[in-house]
Amino acid sequence: EKNILQDNFGRDHSYLRISLIERCNLRCSYCMPEEGVPLSPKSHLMTYEEIYEIAKTFVKHGVTKIRLTGGEPLVRKDFPIILEKLASLPVEISITSNAVIIDKFVDVLKAYGVKSLNISLDSLHRDKFKEITRRDNFEKVHNNILLLVKEGFKVKVNAVLIKDFNDNEIINFIKFTKDLPVSVRFIEFMPFDGNKWDMSKMVSYKDVMDRVYESFSENQVERLQDAPNDTSKNYKIKGYTGSFAIISSVTNPFCDSCNRLRLTANGQLKNCLFSATESDILGTLRAGNSIDPVIEKAVKAKFKIRGGMNTLDKLQKPERHNLNRSMITIGG
Ligand code: GTP
Ligand code: 5AD
Ligand code: SF4
Repeated sequence: EKNILQDNFGRDHSYLRISLIERCNLRCSYCMPEEGVPLSPKSHLMTYEEIYEIAKTFVKHGVTKIRLTGGEPLVRKDFPIILEKLASLPVEISITSNAVIIDKFVDVLKAYGVKSLNISLDSLHRDKFKEITRRDNFEKVHNNILLLVKEGFKVKVNAVLIKDFNDNEIINFIKFTKDLPVSVRFIEFMPFDGNKWDMSKMVSYKDVMDRVYESFSENQVERLQDAPNDTSKNYKIKGYTGSFAIISSVTNPFCDSCNRLRLTANGQLKNCLFSATESDILGTLRAGNSIDPVIEKAVKAKFKIRGGMNTLDKLQKPERHNLNRSMITIGG
């Protein structure tokens, strides 16, 4: 059978990220505008049956990994049903969550074979956490990370760094991995609609490593082997239980080895995190037509780098035709 998930640059797409919901129980400023985003009417969102149908098609064409995102995926009422349906497919399922309510889902996650979880946490201080997320939930998230580790999940902690705001916590975050088997990933702040991105607010891969070498000597820092198609450059401090990493989408994109496609909660396929154009998978399905040609066309239209924003200048000042969604409705 024809490989419809291969693009014009020879990249095979075996990883599908599905956003389950546009809403979130936090309000992170780097992810959504303060006033919120217009929400799709419920009738425009994929039902769990539709999610399953679409996922099944992607798996048939070669997807081997599905990541569930949001908003916050666990806020969706039928999350356990969605997970149960998807778990019947031959795919690895992973979830990106803010962990605020994840303690209530430990049994469900285990029952359906989820092994790894990526948890967003941008500060180790309660006040700072509240400032970023506009919710006073630090304790819950922190305790839930410890709980997930104890329950045997593989946990990655995502920290988006913002200059002069939380970049003074880099070393603290690394020390957090001393006795805890998690990978803390420092993420370069990326531009999305309504998040007031500015290059000067971004903390780069190089900035992070400079900080690291102020506190640790060259021979204490070990560069780890990255997994294939990994977003992150991985390191550890020798003797520490956990590790740390940098996700450098801005200064050092990993588009050459990109294997990702994204499905939004309202059923639109994005061929890139930064793609401005979207393909109407849900509409096609509801019209009773095959979604295969729509998927194929979307994949073939994928740009080589960052949805066509190949220079930092273009990222800084996107043209009208490059306008993207807010991160909260993409899911990372
Ligand atoms: P793994 O599946 O464990 O490799 O996770 P991940 O890093 O792909 O996913 P996660 O949801 O934890 O995202 C961490 C950060 O990486 C977020 O800031 C994402 O926006 C970013 N990210 C994830 N996938 C891509 C991608 O395809 N391109 C770019 N540029 N950034 C990505
Ligand atoms: N830049 C970089 N990462 C972001 N995320 C959300 N918004 C941004 C942004 N503007 C991250 C979240 C979450 C992941 C899915 O994406 O922290 O961990
Ligand atoms: Fe893939 Fe686009 Fe991310 Fe590059 S920016 S790695 S092409 S999703």
